[in-house]
Amino acid sequence: MSGIIVYYSTYGSTQEYAEALGEKMGWTVLSYRKVKAANIQSVDIVVLASNVRIEKLGISKWAKRYKKHLTNKKVVVLAVGANPFENQAYYLETTMKSIYFLNLKKENIFGLGGRIKTSDLHGMDAFIFKVLGKMIKDDKIKKDFFNDVDHFDIDHLNGIINYLSALK
Ligand SMILES: Cc1cc2nc3c(=O)[nH]c(=O)nc-3n(C[C@H](O)[C@H](O)[C@H](O)COP(=O)(O)O)c2cc1C
Repeated sequence: MSGIIVYYSTYGSTQEYAEALGEKMGWTVLSYRKVKAANIQSVDIVVLASNVRIEKLGISKWAKRYKKHLTNKKVVVLAVGANPFENQAYYLETTMKSIYFLNLKKENIFGLGGRIKTSDLHGMDAFIFKVLGKMIKDDKIKKDFFNDVDHFDIDHLNGIINYLSALK
């Protein structure tokens, strides 16, 4: 089957996963900003690779706008967040809530661990982060909040690669 990977990435982790997956599958990888309806119409499978931002998938607005083009396709989601890979329940719940309008099946949702490098945060993100941090009273929790997070592991793509390859 043919496929495309559409990604939404702010700091690059999701893009890195999307590009590695695209290379493995031999599929086109495009930022959501560059996708045209024709790109979607010409394939069987659409992988939506998105970061999680404030409990929502970054790509959810775009997905809503493209809903009519996505309804006849097999849609597979790759959600990337600050939660570890082991916390698939979090990724599943967040994805189901964010893009409920695509009626996704559980087996089409894959969570992957991303990264937060606090010194890289820019604009509104840096502001939100600072404000949230200031609201934390407990010193230990506050310290952990400002620590960098790195759950990125390219090998965790194997599950989705095996799943997509079996559909071919
Ligand atoms: C403003 C902001 C909000 C975030 N909210 C969440 C969240 O609700 N849940 C989560 O698991 N990760 C959250 N994260 C972590 C990102 O999903 C994580 O850093 C991810 O690797 C970002 O992917 P990207 O590099 O492709 O943008 C947040 C990060 C930022 C900067």
